[in-house]
Amino acid sequence: MALLTVSNLEKKFGGVTAIAGLDFQVDPEIIFAIIGPNGAGKTTLFNLLTSIYQPTTGTVTFDGHDLTRLKPFQIAELGVTRTFQNLQIFLNMTVLENVMVGCHLRSRCGIIEAALRLPSVIREEKQVREMAMEALDFCGMSELADRDAASLPYGMLKKLEVARALAAKPRMLLMDEPAAGLNDTETIVMSSLIRDISRSGITVLLVEHNMGLVMDVSDRVLVLNYGELLSQGTPQEVQCDPRVIAAYLGE
Ligand SMILES: Nc1ncnc2c1ncn2[C@@H]1O[C@H](COP(=O)(O)OP(=O)(O)OP(=O)(O)O)[C@@H](O)[C@H]1O
Ligand SMILES: [Mg+2]
Repeated sequence: MALLTVSNLEKKFGGVTAIAGLDFQVDPEIIFAIIGPNGAGKTTLFNLLTSIYQPTTGTVTFDGHDLTRLKPFQIAELGVTRTFQNLQIFLNMTVLENVMVGCHLRSRCGIIEAALRLPSVIREEKQVREMAMEALDFCGMSELADRDAASLPYGMLKKLEVARALAAKPRMLLMDEPAAGLNDTETIVMSSLIRDISRSGITVLLVEHNMGLVMDVSDRVLVLNYGELLSQGTPQEVQCDPRVIAAYLGE
């Protein structure tokens, strides 16, 4: 059974239709890529899946829950987390602190308990630290835990963004252009990290312009064009689809 079902999804911004009546399903534990030219609606789709935007019409069902009725933090609690096309890293914090931000939705203590430093708070802080370290370790970054985020090269910041999204222990991870701006070596590292995430049982939705990476790691590919589903299938099927070639080459 599908883990994610998108039905008749539409998002209009005034006169611009960013997502135009989209239907698709994602099976659990696969790498599902969403590609398409600039402005095709990929990031808007992620923003709809995480309730940053409300759809004009349509539904998004994750594991039986209608996500469009939930707040972003409730969607994260259900097990859907994401990375951002524009890095959302706190440069004035350490690497570990940045990842700990990703665990906060699992924390149960309120402000008063925290201010009083109750034993429950200290226990929980230790747990959060451990979860964050686990995520950093998974991304091969545990030795950088105490470094200032600002001191990391761009490629590491992109991985830090992934570590933070993993720290909340998602069942589905949305990655918006994880390889953008990376050099060839960093791209290989990122593609192997994406595979590792998938092997650990997390369903991956991948938005990416690097076609080599997409065709290499994905189980299925959906092509968006002007907010519409242009094509869908295995990487080989999509690559051979004349409509896809035309959309990319502008014919
Ligand atoms: N908040 C917004 N207000 C108005 N228009 C928007 C908004 N967000 C996106 N759009 C428009 O919706 C369309 C889809 O944009 P979106 O950012 O989803 O594209 P994309 O596929 O992610 O592109 P890229 O590959 O360049 O990241 C574009 O025409 C864009 O200008
Ligand atoms: Mg985008």
